[in-house]
Amino acid sequence: MTHSKRRVTPSVRLLRWLYLVGVICFALGVVLQVFFAGAALLVNPDYLNTHRILGNTVALLPVPMLILAMLARMPHRTTLLTVLLTLVTALQYAFLWGVTDIGLPVWFRAFHAVNAIVMFVLAERLARTSWKLLRGPQVE
Ligand code: HEM
Repeated sequence: MTHSKRRVTPSVRLLRWLYLVGVICFALGVVLQVFFAGAALLVNPDYLNTHRILGNTVALLPVPMLILAMLARMPHRTTLLTVLLTLVTALQYAFLWGVTDIGLPVWFRAFHAVNAIVMFVLAERLARTSWKLLRGPQVE
């Protein structure tokens, strides 16, 4: 069976742009989070509050991104990786507050910091993919 390629509509293209903006904001948010964590440790502990507030905001982003990925008919792989981004982001809370409850040693909490790398790499990949999609032929 052959699939004929259809041109994407301007509204799908707009949604793809919004997705790209969302994923870039997410990646920049992760960098800022690492900055504020460092500032809390090295400059002033008050920065931890900024880290908490920004963190709770950045952590919400994958949800609208996932909705956008579906509405913008992104490739399945991209949508699945956005699901993964949502799960990896949720892990930030699990590492902070869940590790001892499930019997893991307390040092597992430090994976909250390591996970920042995973979140950034994933967001960077998704940004590249959605950028390539917008630059390539506008078909689906
Ligand atoms: C170098 C990387 C990071 C370090 C060292 C770090 C460290 C911390 C620390 C020490 C806390 C406070 C825990 C407490 O209140 O006792 C915290 C809270 C938090 N962090 Fe991070 N963090 C890092 C990266 C991130 C990233 C990338 C995110 C992504 C969104 C994030 C999201 C959060 C959130 C949402 C909270 C508040 C949780 C709550 O209020 O329940 N952190 N972090």
